Amino acid sequence: MAKLAIDGGKPVRKKFLVFGKPCMNSAEERAAVRVLRSGWISTGRESHAFEKEFAAYVGAREGVAVSSCTAALHLALVLAGAQRGREVITTPLTFVATAEAILYTGARVVFADVDLRTGQIDPEDVARRVNRKTCAIVPVHYAGYPAPMDALMRIARRRRLTVIEDAAHAVETWSGRRKVGRIGDYTCFSFYATKNLTCAEGGMITLQDSKLAGKLRMMRLHGMSKDAWKRYGSKVSGGYDVPEMGFKYNLTDLQAAIAREQLKKVRVFWKRRQAVVRRYEKYFAGHPLVRTLSYGPGTNAYHFFPIFLNLARLNKTRDEFLAALSAENIGCGVHFTPVHLFSHYRKILRLRKGDYPNAETLGLSEISLPVYPSMTPRDVSDTISGVEKVLEMAARR
Ligand SMILES: Cc1ncc(COP(=O)(O)O)c(C=O)c1O
Repeated sequence: MAKLAIDGGKPVRKKFLVFGKPCMNSAEERAAVRVLRSGWISTGRESHAFEKEFAAYVGAREGVAVSSCTAALHLALVLAGAQRGREVITTPLTFVATAEAILYTGARVVFADVDLRTGQIDPEDVARRVNRKTCAIVPVHYAGYPAPMDALMRIARRRRLTVIEDAAHAVETWSGRRKVGRIGDYTCFSFYATKNLTCAEGGMITLQDSKLAGKLRMMRLHGMSKDAWKRYGSKVSGGYDVPEMGFKYNLTDLQAAIAREQLKKVRVFWKRRQAVVRRYEKYFAGHPLVRTLSYGPGTNAYHFFPIFLNLARLNKTRDEFLAALSAENIGCGVHFTPVHLFSHYRKILRLRKGDYPNAETLGLSEISLPVYPSMTPRDVSDTISGVEKVLEMAARR
């Protein structure tokens, strides 16, 4: 048995395999240069074109480009009436941004536990937690697997709640036969550096209601009735009003131009991600020391591949396991430490370990394996070998 690299042995590979890597080439470079030379680099023609193209891609009537998914969630929550005295239900198995956006509004975060088999928010637990103060449900398509949208939409419609999907992992996810982006009232996407479509930082809200989209466009830029493009970019200029308070959440043309190129390749990227995940799925199916997720009807975006360690049968903690893998030169992630276990959230929500047992079981044993379009078959083999090597050593000692 080979000695672990962390104990002085030879690592599985020489060069470190990063966990996430954007896939860009000369098309994105040319797009960025085009904008830099155009004389207009903030929100303008490119951003507006990207909104239209992205909305068409998911099949929504409207797309509102913003600076991040966190910003998208915040704006959608404001429109859903989230404020002090109201409650918003979401999953604890998410990045802290989901809960943070709720806190920005003054509303209370109410977590509903996840389904142990899928990692997705459990509609039955959601239904139990709805009360007169609830104004919205925020499901997350965890890892790019589809959240149970049919059941959630039924609860929301019955109780007149707004559904805001956190689709940060879900460019290319389908829930049942519907593409994510045209199911809930608002769908919020992320174009952060590791996402399936990236422009370094960015986000998008898709929706069907054009009037609300107009409102979102004002809110993303200080509540101004005319953005800078309308004031200075075209021949018609003039004054503007500020009918209500807004935020500084606009997406620049420099980012939008890169995102437009990425959007053209999204399907090709998805196919490559799928090929990576298929190999992981095949290898880890029925593995005695590792569990993987199943998912309901729909299509996976293959954002990353979560595996859950059977810690009872290993003599390493999850963090020791991660450190050992890193020494093997395999970069992995953690998605996610359940939000209610972070000290700030324990304090303000008066929550503690044991309150969301399924999210804890998953979140505290999870390791995310890398999935990105430029991974070679060798990268995938090395990742599997690295995980297997550490598993074998952790199980034997
Ligand atoms: C589930 C989830 N929601 C929201 C976000 C926030 O996205 P952004 O960085 O675009 O604000 C992330 C970021 O990784 C995420 O994983």
